Amino acid sequence: MKNYKIALIKGDGIGPEIIDEAVKVLKAVSAKCGFALEFNEYLMGGCAVDACGVPLPDATIEGAKASDAVLFGAIGGYKWDNLPRELKPETGLLKIRKELGTYANLRPAAVYDELLEASPLKPEIAKGVDLLIVRELTGGIYFGEPRGRDENRGYNTMVYTKPEIERIAKVAFESARKRRGKVTSVDKANVLEVSQLWRETVTEVAKNYPDVTLEHLYVDNAAMQLVTNPKQFDVVVTGNIFGDILSDEASVLTGSIGLLASASLGDKYAIYEPIHGSAPDIAGQDIANPIATILSAAMMLRFSLNEEKAADMIEDAVKSALKDGIRTKDTARFGAIKVLGCKDMGTEIASRI
Ligand code: IPM
Ligand code: MN
Repeated sequence: MKNYKIALIKGDGIGPEIIDEAVKVLKAVSAKCGFALEFNEYLMGGCAVDACGVPLPDATIEGAKASDAVLFGAIGGYKWDNLPRELKPETGLLKIRKELGTYANLRPAAVYDELLEASPLKPEIAKGVDLLIVRELTGGIYFGEPRGRDENRGYNTMVYTKPEIERIAKVAFESARKRRGKVTSVDKANVLEVSQLWRETVTEVAKNYPDVTLEHLYVDNAAMQLVTNPKQFDVVVTGNIFGDILSDEASVLTGSIGLLASASLGDKYAIYEPIHGSAPDIAGQDIANPIATILSAAMMLRFSLNEEKAADMIEDAVKSALKDGIRTKDTARFGAIKVLGCKDMGTEIASRI
């Protein structure tokens, strides 16, 4: 029997609750599909600062590298907000992405018909939205040097090299080939040199994909188009900070940020995580929506473990629960027949496997 090693990083806030539900669903699906999963837990974020004095202990990096994939919850909380940069929970997350070389962050956003009413957009605009944001994750202004601050000045550097742009563009074009064959590259080439290089390079890479249509949009326009005409988008490829912002924007189209999964892929390692944060305001109350994490686990099965059938089974179980009006509190107002807590939602989805 195949046996996969999964590194679990629960993190802070609602992280532990949502990971526990994803594990429940993973156990159900592995039993059905005849493979075994070995789970090992590692610390990252505020809990790691408290326990070890650093947001990303070496043991976590080593554990992640020794695993087939990393499943991550969320990090951060009020308690650690005012720490210096090197101790911030967020620094742990940025560092693990860099250490594992997970440069391609895939963030799908699709509007489920069952939750159409939960979208803040008019149903005729939201219905059928199905897009994938491909966000560059280990470069750009998040990592550029020089950076720094003193009392009166703070600065960061947005830098991309050609190879960095080429490899993320390839991921976008390959993804578009498996979808509807369109890539929209988002930049700010009317102002930024780094974006001019971005645009030129993406255009060059596109020559190897004559079957894929390429369009370019400035980021301000893209932000507007995402809410006025989101159906035009298939794959959106963009840099680190634009992708951070646009993926949050895209998530609300679907009705709840609590539904959106993501995969961060590199040449050797991968991290799977919900796109939402640690939600410290609702932590420990058993009301968080575990679906984003459960769908991230499905992406893990698909991309890292090649267990396609198991991934489909999880996605179908989530869809069928939503179809039957099973909701968590965040989406309770829309077609709810039964409103469940985090734990019961996990149990419900696991029972549908
Ligand atoms: C995300 C988060 C992170 C990011 C933060 C917590 C560092 O917002 O995964 O989108 O900006 O990448
Ligand atoms: Mn974000």
